[in-house]
Amino acid sequence: MKQEISRRHFLKVAATVGAALTIQPVVNKVKAANVALGDANASPVIKNGMPCRTLGTGRAALEVSALGFGVMGMTYNRSQHPDKKACIRLLHEAVERGVTLFDTAIIYGPLTNEYLAGEALSAFKGKINVTTKFGHEVIDGKGTGRQDSSRATVRRYCEESLKRLRTDSIPLFYQHRYDPHTPIEEVAETIKELIQKGKVQRWGLCEVSAETIRKAHAVCPLTAIQSEYHLMHRDVEQNGVLDICRELGIGFVPYSPINRGFLGGCINEYTVFDTANDNRHTLPRFQPDAIRANTRIVAALQRFGRERGMTSAQVALGWLLQKAPWIVPIPGTTKQSHLEENLHTLAFDVPAEAWSELERTVAAIPVVGDRYNAEQQKQVGH
Ligand SMILES: NC(=O)c1ccc[n+]([C@@H]2O[C@H](COP(=O)([O-])OP(=O)(O)OC[C@H]3O[C@@H](n4cnc5c(N)ncnc54)[C@H](OP(=O)(O)O)[C@@H]3O)[C@@H](O)[C@H]2O)c1
Repeated sequence: MKQEISRRHFLKVAATVGAALTIQPVVNKVKAANVALGDANASPVIKNGMPCRTLGTGRAALEVSALGFGVMGMTYNRSQHPDKKACIRLLHEAVERGVTLFDTAIIYGPLTNEYLAGEALSAFKGKINVTTKFGHEVIDGKGTGRQDSSRATVRRYCEESLKRLRTDSIPLFYQHRYDPHTPIEEVAETIKELIQKGKVQRWGLCEVSAETIRKAHAVCPLTAIQSEYHLMHRDVEQNGVLDICRELGIGFVPYSPINRGFLGGCINEYTVFDTANDNRHTLPRFQPDAIRANTRIVAALQRFGRERGMTSAQVALGWLLQKAPWIVPIPGTTKQSHLEENLHTLAFDVPAEAWSELERTVAAIPVVGDRYNAEQQKQVGH
């Protein structure tokens, strides 16, 4: 017990010292981003030593830590993971260090990830936000591969998520994938009702087109769009998604911000993914030949980081953070060392010109392999 208390005390002190180190560079970085966006007067908010950002505007606004935490890999799709106790301990560390945005989904497991998030995080209700996602059909605890965002199913999934998350209201409920059989306006109406009932506070969409975002937002204002975005996948810069987020005041949450671990530099052509619990072995970009070729990109990030004392994971996250003050990446990890490393990204202050240079260097290296296989690709961009 005594040991536990002194460990917690150490963590608190470390977090406070860490905060003192981190604040100024982040203030500068956010200011720089604000200048770039023509909003130079906006001053960044720091809470519990952690810089905060706001996703969405008006009644849809949600203030969260500048970096969130993706819970998925603690039970699903990222090969082996530590036992539940160790995962809960790591999630508590993240809370202690000021993280207030945790991301899960019904399909992760399925269900096991929401159970874990509920058990670990429900005690912090009101202080942090556990966001979750509906859409992928789950029957008897198994994903069917179909989408179902019909009114009755969304209502039922919401009730079931509330139970697993051990809460009475979901701070941000995303549609995980577009449902071709349910018009987006109907989904928005369903969510609007759930918001009126207090079961959901805000909502978001994943991997949809700018047109869908506009239609959905007109019915019920969106807080965030969550889509893949990192130095090896920049579609949202070209397909109008970031533009419409900027125009409508919607936040953006880049998922897989380290490209599923690849940009962290710990994956090579010999890496074996657990075929029973890792989707990376199904992705063209994670086949050995593609990994070998794309390692040039990791090397470019490492070169950039070496002169600045940054790891390649920190370069990947820092590049996303400086893109706009309404962007909040959600890296996932099962390791305390990676949690610390990822959060420490906020301590670095890299000039805009250096980021542009990195962008040009990386853009000159062709990315080998698609990010998704044909089946997964069919589900995005509607
Ligand atoms: N909306 C969607 O459709 C969607 C899709 C995918 C993911 N997501 C969300 O996004 C979150 C993150 O995505 P993700 O897990 O796919 O990708 P990610 O965050 O880019 O990468 C996670 C992987 O990177 C490793 N990692 C983390 N920090 C590292 C570091 N500093 N150095 C080296 N490796 C590091 C982790 O392994 P260790 O455990 O060893 O650290 C883990 O295997 C998920 O948890 C989920 O909430 C959403």
